[in-house]
Amino acid sequence: MPIADDIDDVRARLAAARRPAALAGAGLSAESGVPTFRGAGGLWRRYRPEELASPAAFARDPKLVWEWYDWRRGLIAKTEPNEGHRALAEIEARFPEFWLITQNVDGLSRLAGSLRALELHGNIWRMRCTGCARTLENRQTPLPELPPACGNCGELLRPDIVWFGESLPPGVLDKAFIAARESDLFLVVGTAGVVEPAASLARLAKANGAFVVEINPDETALSEECDISLRGKSGETLPRLLD
Ligand code: OAD
Repeated sequence: MPIADDIDDVRARLAAARRPAALAGAGLSAESGVPTFRGAGGLWRRYRPEELASPAAFARDPKLVWEWYDWRRGLIAKTEPNEGHRALAEIEARFPEFWLITQNVDGLSRLAGSLRALELHGNIWRMRCTGCARTLENRQTPLPELPPACGNCGELLRPDIVWFGESLPPGVLDKAFIAARESDLFLVVGTAGVVEPAASLARLAKANGAFVVEINPDETALSEECDISLRGKSGETLPRLLD
């Protein structure tokens, strides 16, 4: 079916949905200028995740890990939400039970007005103390001292981000599972669908009867399991679902 017909179909399904939900990935923020992880120009093409985004990397060289996050914070600070973020905030305004499950740590969905955004992988503007476990928000960029230390106990602060090999924050993950299970229309936006448990949320939604729609310019690991794949950029495609 041509994409225009598919968009009409999904628009009608969204209008009739009772409890839509969405899973977002780095592609949602791509049009804001935030680099993705995989694919052309993706961060994991130039950097090795296990050297920068793992507990072992932080134990080995916290300054190097912080330099990388400080650089990304600088990039993200210059960006703004795009039409895709705004369309998801508009869906929330129309459907009070809507949940946006995002793998993104840039905070752009909240900035666009998504209050019901579940940040599965943390937030790059938050830090957590490796000693006293206190968390704090810090938007300073660049950071004056790397690695930063806790003002409370003096131990190292780390980005409040889920690294490879770590568990997801349990409260957030539980809410995401419930949102996926209870949704009747599940949008899979801008994610390669290869990182668990995020990817399995789409499968869970489908297994529980949701109609699953992918929005991504490229085929992904989840495409085959989606009922419809809208091949386009999220900043262009999502607003069209609300026309
Ligand atoms: P990836 O970088 O793996 O995938 C980005 C996806 O976005 C790809 O499928 C692209 O085709 C798609 N894409 C690119 N531009 C797009 C656009 N304008 N509109 C829609 N889609 C577009 O990102 P994620 O799947 O989010 O984890 O990666 C998952 C996790 O892996 C990340 O949260 C990160 C990473 O390691 C942590 O940092 C904890």
